[in-house]
Amino acid sequence: MTSDQWQSLRSLPQTTLTSLFEADSKRVSGFGWEQAGIYFDFSKTHLDDKTVGAFSALADDMGLSQRVQALLSGETVNISEGRAAEHCAERGIGSPPSVENAQALHQRMKSLVEIVDSGALGEFTQIIHLGIGGSALGPKMLHQALKLGDEKYELAVVSNIDGVALEPVLERFDAGKTLLVIASKTFTTAETLMNAQSVLDWMREQGVADPLGQVVALTASPEQAVKWGVDETRILPFSETVGGRYSLWSSIGFSVALALGYDVFADLLAGAALMDQHFRDSPWDQNIPVLAAFADQYYAQIRDCETRAVFAYDERLGLLPDYLQQLEMESNGKAVTLDGEALALHSSPIVWGGVGTDAQHAVFQLLHQGTHLVPVEFLAVVEPGDSLDPAHHNGLLLNCFAQGAALMAGKKSDDSHRNYPGDRPSVTILLEELEASSLGALLAFYEHRTFVNAVLLNINPFDQFGVELGKQMANKLGADDGNRLDASTEELKKRAFGA
Ligand code: F6P
Repeated sequence: MTSDQWQSLRSLPQTTLTSLFEADSKRVSGFGWEQAGIYFDFSKTHLDDKTVGAFSALADDMGLSQRVQALLSGETVNISEGRAAEHCAERGIGSPPSVENAQALHQRMKSLVEIVDSGALGEFTQIIHLGIGGSALGPKMLHQALKLGDEKYELAVVSNIDGVALEPVLERFDAGKTLLVIASKTFTTAETLMNAQSVLDWMREQGVADPLGQVVALTASPEQAVKWGVDETRILPFSETVGGRYSLWSSIGFSVALALGYDVFADLLAGAALMDQHFRDSPWDQNIPVLAAFADQYYAQIRDCETRAVFAYDERLGLLPDYLQQLEMESNGKAVTLDGEALALHSSPIVWGGVGTDAQHAVFQLLHQGTHLVPVEFLAVVEPGDSLDPAHHNGLLLNCFAQGAALMAGKKSDDSHRNYPGDRPSVTILLEELEASSLGALLAFYEHRTFVNAVLLNINPFDQFGVELGKQMANKLGADDGNRLDASTEELKKRAFGA
């Protein structure tokens, strides 16, 4: 089925970026798309009409329309776990019963925000949000992106089992004024539950009479949370069909909704829904997440790029590369197809990145002159997030745009050390303003792009069995049952803990 399509894609003539611009004076408008307050510039990629046409044919061959329909109507798309993947229902796009259920759960979440705000549960001014992976990265990234600095609540998101992460928060916070939010889809995750226990112990030591009375749980396993001791009235459930790395739209967003206001959370959902509609309704050659996935597949399969770099030219979006790393690598870092066969293509690229302009002075050397071809993604915001001299923000944006231009143009020199080969691709994503709705649309864009990549690869983006073995081995290593792991690991254990 697909091998012929891939073959014809591989045999398309390879052109340089500069010649693509020379051949098409309208390239910028042809490969620039606007949606929900965001401008996506794909013109500095090697996509052209022929490549888009060939990838569209591949997408049809892979049944992308049917797969999108299956995703958005709540069919069992996560076949290895026998579940739907209904994060879009949280935004109002899905099967009517799932949308209704999500809305009812959001209503419950909103009520709890109002109850906490009213002071009925205590005079809270500080929130400790405990969770890891999808139960932490989204809330932490959103809070950093959207906080204004004058909020009523101070929010600390702690994920690592390393006490160095939690201890400074406990030293700084006032136990009596702290609301503990435990975010865990399964409510069995070792790091989260250990941190939660330590926070309860700390509250008790600090004289809080009923620490569990200051706990809210966000989970798809409410029965586990009850078992753990959380009162049912303070458990905000979400659907089992919402995957961890897709869960910030569910009650996992509670801490952000409380810290920044429920309206902010509602705007986030509304922005994401705009992108969902665009994704659902646009033909492939005008569909922004689909075009982005075409570029991803072009670089992964045809140019053998193993990584993709994302640079946020905005401090507020500094955690976005981490968030995308989980979204893309946990979703598409797989080696088997939906049918369980060995995947004959490269799966997810290694997603990495950082913040501009800092990264320019650290890793951009490799991007400009290294032997690896790394497609780069630049993110920037037109409206500044600061009130200093506009020279700061202007300088930031000019640097961002100049880097894309330099990667593409290169610069020939007779001195090979000073030669820039150029023809290095980038996508630039320009938000008019960094606000909840545009951020919601941006994150939904990344989710759909990840899904389309999975469809083109014929893999399941919604399971994550790869993370299980390490957890099992950690338990095994910690158990004092005489079973031993390999000699190297046992030696490390001996050095750390003694014989
Ligand atoms: O270990 C991976 C993982 O299961 C992620 O998929 C998930 O987001 C994270 O751990 C946290 O899981 P939970 O929300 O169940 O605590």
